[in-house]
Amino acid sequence: MSVDENRTTVRQVRNEFEGALNASLDHAPVGRPTDRLGDPVPEALPPEQFVQELTDEIMGSAAANIGPFYERLIAEEIPIEGLRDWVKQWYIDARTFPSVIAQICANATYHYDARQFMGANLAEELGEFNPAREHPVTVRQLGNALGVSDEELEFAEPYPETLLYVEYRQHLVRDFHWVEALASGSFAIELTIPNRFRQIARALSHQLNLDDKALEVFRIHAGDERLELDYGGDDKHAAEAGALLAKYSVTAEMQQRVRLAVWRSVQARRVYQWGLYREIVLKRHPQWEAVNAR
Ligand SMILES: [Fe+2]
Ligand SMILES: [Fe+2]
Repeated sequence: MSVDENRTTVRQVRNEFEGALNASLDHAPVGRPTDRLGDPVPEALPPEQFVQELTDEIMGSAAANIGPFYERLIAEEIPIEGLRDWVKQWYIDARTFPSVIAQICANATYHYDARQFMGANLAEELGEFNPAREHPVTVRQLGNALGVSDEELEFAEPYPETLLYVEYRQHLVRDFHWVEALASGSFAIELTIPNRFRQIARALSHQLNLDDKALEVFRIHAGDERLELDYGGDDKHAAEAGALLAKYSVTAEMQQRVRLAVWRSVQARRVYQWGLYREIVLKRHPQWEAVNAR
C-alpha cells in the first residue's frame, strides 16, 4: 500500500492554525461559564464555616425558598383551580425525589457513612417501605383534598419547566461526584423545605380548612412528633447532608465544586418556580392575552 507523501494530516492542519486559538478566552476547568482560567479558586475554608456560608446563601435565595409563586400561595391569593394545577406539578417533582436520594446513595461507592445516611433517607422517602406512606403519596393525599384524583395526578402533563427541572436534577445527581450530588440533590433542596412547608400548610389550612391527613405531606417534612413515621423532618435530612459536606469538602477544589453544584440546583429551582408563576398566576391575569398579542 502506498502512502501519499503529499497528504496533509489533521495534526499538521491543527498545528498550522494553532494561532487561531485565543488563550485569553480559556475557561476555568472548575467554574461557572463566567470564570476564566486564570481566576483564583477561593482558598479552602474551615469545613464548618464553608457549610455555614453555603447555608446562608441557600437560605437567602428566593429561588431556593419562596419566590413570586409561593409568595402568592402563602398570601392565599391562588384560587382553587390554580392550587389544583400546582399540586399536579408538585406531584411530578415529588414522585421523582426518592430517585434523587437513591442516586446519591448509589454514587457513594467507597463511603460507608454516606451510604448509611442516604440509605436511611431513602427509606424515609419511601415511607419506610409502606407504599401508602411514601412521600409522593402524601402529596396525592393533598391533591385528593384539593379535588384532584389519583388518576389526574399520576398522568398530569408537566409544564416544560417542571420536566426540565426534574430531569436536570436527576442529571446533577447521576453525572457528578457524590459530594456534588449531595450538595445539589439533597442539601440545597431539603434545607429550604421545613420553613416553606410550614408557611404553605398554614395558608392552605386557613384558606380551605384542610384536615391533618391532607396536610400530612407538610407535617412529615416539617417534623411532627405525632406522626408514626416522624424522622425529624427535613431539618434532619439537611443537617445530615451538611455534616457529610463538612466532612468531605475539605479541599479548595471540592468546596468550589460543591458551590457550583448548589448554584446549578438553585438555578434549576428558579426555572421551576417561574414555570409555576407563568402558568398559574400570569396566565390567569386579565392582561396576559393583551401583553402577548402581536
Ligand atoms: Fe420527603
Ligand atoms: Fe427529606
